[in-house]
Amino acid sequence: MNDLYDVINRRRDTRSEFTGQPVDQDALERVLAAAHCAPSVGMSQPWDFVLVRSPQTLAAFRAHVAREREVFAGSLEGERAETFARIKVEGIVESGLGVVVGYDPSRGGSHVLGRHAIADAGLYSVVCAIQNLWLAATAEGLGVGWVSFYREEFLRELVGFPARVRPVAWLCVGAVGHLPEVPDLERFGWRHRSPLAEVLHEERYQPRV
Ligand SMILES: Cc1cc2nc3c(=O)[nH]c(=O)nc-3n(C[C@H](O)[C@H](O)[C@H](O)COP(=O)(O)O)c2cc1C
Repeated sequence: MNDLYDVINRRRDTRSEFTGQPVDQDALERVLAAAHCAPSVGMSQPWDFVLVRSPQTLAAFRAHVAREREVFAGSLEGERAETFARIKVEGIVESGLGVVVGYDPSRGGSHVLGRHAIADAGLYSVVCAIQNLWLAATAEGLGVGWVSFYREEFLRELVGFPARVRPVAWLCVGAVGHLPEVPDLERFGWRHRSPLAEVLHEERYQPRV
């Protein structure tokens, strides 16, 4: 049990620590199998994983992300702009491997058990798979960095998802020298982790003053 909590605590979003060494194929298969055994609404298993290693595709995605970074940077002023300028938001090329995760709402047929009232339950299932992948990769000593600075249409085209498949994440997966103890956003002063007590409620939601 301690091993599980240890992995949960060691998991980090990784950007600067990728060594560029190839990922061991057996380890990658175990990590993907962990993702594929995630819980899913109605057992729909509505995920797809595209493994991207082509240097051209990695470079094309990095260029797109750089443009989106500029879009976000343009919305900031003063201290926020200065702090953001110091933060790296991706290790797309350095990791050498992108795992693009898609959500296919048609998976599981027209009567997905448990999704009739909450359409987002399909998307939640995909995110469970991503978290399984992330924790399994951490246990294998690999780094994972989630990149969301992209337009869905661009990524759909880049990896050839059909129109019904929604890109949910680009995950940079790769060998790392180490995993940082402190999240980058905390280290660079963007935001800090809040105490559990701030988000915990008894019986009914209590607004915070
Ligand atoms: C949905 C989602 C999208 C994210 N997008 C990015 C991103 O585009 N770039 C980035 O550097 N980190 C991204 N992250 C990582 C978060 O910044 C990171 O999880 C958070 O700062 C806490 O750090 P930790 O994961 O190391 O604990 C994303 C995380 C999630 C869950």
